[in-house]
Amino acid sequence: MSEHHIPVMLNESLDLLITDRSGIYFDATLGFAGHSSEILKRLNDDGRLVASDVDSDAFEFSKKKFAEKSGVSLFNFNYSFIDVIAKIESIQYFDGILADLGVSSFQLDNPDSGFTYRNNVPLDLRMDKTRKITAADIVNTFTEEDLANIFYEFGEEKNSRKISRAILEKRAVKKIATTEQLVSIINELVPQNFQRKTLSRIFQALRIYVNDELGNLKSFLENSLKVLKKGGRIVVISYHSLEDRIVKDFFKAEAIVSLSPKEDPLGLVKKDARLRLINRKPLLPNDEEIKINYRARSAKLRAAERI
Ligand SMILES: C[S@@+](CC[C@H](N)C(=O)[O-])C[C@H]1O[C@@H](n2cnc3c(N)ncnc32)[C@H](O)[C@@H]1O
Repeated sequence: MSEHHIPVMLNESLDLLITDRSGIYFDATLGFAGHSSEILKRLNDDGRLVASDVDSDAFEFSKKKFAEKSGVSLFNFNYSFIDVIAKIESIQYFDGILADLGVSSFQLDNPDSGFTYRNNVPLDLRMDKTRKITAADIVNTFTEEDLANIFYEFGEEKNSRKISRAILEKRAVKKIATTEQLVSIINELVPQNFQRKTLSRIFQALRIYVNDELGNLKSFLENSLKVLKKGGRIVVISYHSLEDRIVKDFFKAEAIVSLSPKEDPLGLVKKDARLRLINRKPLLPNDEEIKINYRARSAKLRAAERI
């Protein structure tokens, strides 16, 4: 396994995240430890890093990498359990929380991990291999309507109905077990110059559904605020609009003390804000970074401070 994942918006994210060099930081998406290694470099001997990844390959890789390091605790957990992890580590509050969402370049490029439609592998798409439902289960058992809804909702795919109808026709003849089978169904329907984008959207939709990525993100954000110290920052890098919208809406909702006149015409609902927005608009990678790391092109970074 090679460490070819280039961490995205590394300096921008860590400049915002680290406010105390002897603090305790949580990296929710350890991956190949790009951000985590840099967090450690910026901490002093009293600082601590706790990090987690749901993917066991990423976890094992980073465990080896940090084997000699003190002040590091790693978990092979879903990040939605951030509050449980804090409890296990006897940590009341983190000084900062980072999440670099989505999949790593390793997951995308490694033929065995099955995250890309470019290699012919079993249709799986689970990051956590202990989850019960694979992409093949969905494609072979869900109704035409449910499949279309997944493609539309999680892939923003306009041809969702046409694609799900074709899937049902093909699976009646032969079970769809591999990425290549799904790719050929889509390629038969879509003109060549739209194929790559359509395949990306369909595979993204299945991946999001299989891993319950949006549900986990919402739980993670909610649970993060239980364990983030006042004055500490939460920094999230997202890679598609569905994720970014969840982060944006959550930060916004937690930063207001009253609802909009439409939602609360008499202005009766008052609540305690838990966050202060650090950047109203998301930060984007600069052109230089995009040139050397294509994966960075869709990154959006949002940060907020616990108050
Ligand atoms: C973009 S990569 C992170 C890369 C990392 N920042 C680095 O520089 O090496 C995202 C990682 O998040 C992990 N991941 C995705 N969803 C997760 C979840 N719900 N809980 C924990 N880890 C998750 C993926 O397995 C992947 O390794």
